[in-house]
Amino acid sequence: MKLSQTFTLYGLLVLVLFSCQVTMASWFYLGVASLAAQTAKQKPETCGGVPGLVYRQIEMCKNNPDAILCVGEGVRLGIHECQSQFRYERWNCTTKQEDSVFGPVLTRATREAAFIHAVTAAGVVHAVTQSCSAGNLTDCSCDMKLHGRVTEDGWKWGGCSDNVDYGVWFAKTFVDAVEKESDIRSLVNLQNNQVGREAIAKQLHLRCRCHGVSGSCAVKSCWKTMPNFNEVGKFLKKRYEKPTEIAPRSKKRLRRREKLFRKVPIKGDELVYLDPSPNYCRQNPDKGIMGTRGRECKKDSKGPDSCDLLCCGRGYNTEVIRMVERCHCKFVWCCKVKCKICETMVDKHTCK
Ligand SMILES: *[C@@H]1O[C@H](CO)[C@@H](O)[C@H](O)[C@H]1NC(C)=O
Ligand SMILES: *[C@@H]1O[C@H](CO)[C@@H](O)[C@H](O)[C@H]1NC(C)=O
Repeated sequence: MKLSQTFTLYGLLVLVLFSCQVTMASWFYLGVASLAAQTAKQKPETCGGVPGLVYRQIEMCKNNPDAILCVGEGVRLGIHECQSQFRYERWNCTTKQEDSVFGPVLTRATREAAFIHAVTAAGVVHAVTQSCSAGNLTDCSCDMKLHGRVTEDGWKWGGCSDNVDYGVWFAKTFVDAVEKESDIRSLVNLQNNQVGREAIAKQLHLRCRCHGVSGSCAVKSCWKTMPNFNEVGKFLKKRYEKPTEIAPRSKKRLRRREKLFRKVPIKGDELVYLDPSPNYCRQNPDKGIMGTRGRECKKDSKGPDSCDLLCCGRGYNTEVIRMVERCHCKFVWCCKVKCKICETMVDKHTCK
């Protein structure tokens, strides 16, 4: 790296350090400012300048400079999955390139905040574990605990099993470091972080393969792999749809708000919330609500993307759009594909 560039990077970190001590800064920033993660990796002593890190996280950043890149990658995974899961909903998981990243949505313990906490915690587990398996981190590698043993079906454990224990440990230590453990808000976040970690740890897949001459299956081996991150997103979205409301006066331990079920302990896969969600219909920048004006909706859908639901009953505008496509393609011997050009008109609806 050129000297001038290095100075710019330092400049950025110093600037950010001195100018943005805003309350909202958070480690999520590592996901949108890959520069900050990159610099912290190359110069671990700059970890203190990354906005939003608490003391414990700065220490982990200094001691595991490679892993800090994974944290950034994990946040990006989480953001991407969040936006994909919510792309047709009123709240669509908008983020900003600022240190608050998710904006004021996280100031209240709503089910949306719960999803963000879970999906980013899961992202960190996923990214760290993948780096372990790729041999990119010094503190971990593939999980060899089962190597040499035999599965129930008589297959041998082999290959590289994803070392999810390390990923879970890292994510727990790093992500949970923000929480104080003494107030209810922290307890809620801790529970949701855990749901995210378990969404991976409890869903490991078994993969097996035959080896041997021409598929003779002389050697059969199995290993464990993490679920695809999209599966993790789907799993968490289901939990988001059935969240558990917490009694506002819970102390030390979370309790359900619903009196009848107070005694039923909260399970490891329940996303929890304290505050009811706004309807996200009208723009309100102070609360980080974008509103649904201008969002594209589907006229005949019955789901959340229907014009009725997405536009909150305000109605929608319809535009006719001309689409030009290749069509009626034919294979011509040999070897060409000939197409015609077709024009179609499609209606595009956007919320008023
Ligand atoms: C491992 O490191 C290599 C080289 O830096 C990089 O290309 C690759 O994406 C990394 N893999 C993971 C899973 O982090
Ligand atoms: C979410 O919706 C807003 C409009 O309300 C739009 O500007 C934005 O691009 C959308 N974000 C994503 C990630 O789809």
